[in-house]
Amino acid sequence: MREIVERGYEEGDHVGAYRLDDNMDNYPLEKENIDRLIESLPKNAGILDLGCGPGIPYDKYLVESGFKVTGVDFSQKHINLARRNVPGATFVRGDMTSVDFGEESFDAVVSLYAIFHIPKKEHRDFFLKIHGMLKENGFTLVTLGTGTEDEGDVGDFIGSKMVWSSYSLKDNLQLVEDCGFEIVHWEEEGKKGYPEHHLWVLARKS
Ligand SMILES: C[S@@+](CC[C@H](N)C(=O)[O-])C[C@H]1O[C@@H](n2cnc3c(N)ncnc32)[C@H](O)[C@@H]1O
Repeated sequence: MREIVERGYEEGDHVGAYRLDDNMDNYPLEKENIDRLIESLPKNAGILDLGCGPGIPYDKYLVESGFKVTGVDFSQKHINLARRNVPGATFVRGDMTSVDFGEESFDAVVSLYAIFHIPKKEHRDFFLKIHGMLKENGFTLVTLGTGTEDEGDVGDFIGSKMVWSSYSLKDNLQLVEDCGFEIVHWEEEGKKGYPEHHLWVLARKS
């Protein structure tokens, strides 16, 4: 699954399809959710972004809001773009499931539109890893899938092959709680009849 996803982002045009605009005001639902995280954090907080993509608009907005941002992505193309787009952040190329920054090293960990590219049987370990990297009372802001997709279902996306893996919305919320988080807010992104739906979750380490 990783090989298909990594190649899919190298060969496809995620930026052209979704991330040409770096103005956070043009992403109202995302802005509302990120602002809810920002209001929960101390000044100068350290934030880790797993599957950061090209760094815009989210990491740019977080840096402009005064936070110390570290982004991780396994697409070299996206890391190069992120470094150019957001010089005030630090970007590391790597697999977000295996990078190690040490225990209790961040005030917040975000992962937006990326966790559904990890096989779902690994999602529990991924949340436990996030839990470990967070300081006491730290926050995580993530998007997850809402339907039960399997890593075997390869589809077309952004001009390349791509694959997703997800539990249901209800099971995802349960998983976050089971991994030691208290859910602060959740909502479903997506219009009726439109195929793309995402579960936004803001949760506190408990
Ligand atoms: C849909 S894009 C979202 C990027 C960014 N969060 C955004 O919203 O613009 C998914 C990103 O996750 C990255 N990604 C997927 N699986 C990954 C993994 N196992 N390790 C690191 N990066 C991964 C991809 O390379 C891609 O940049």
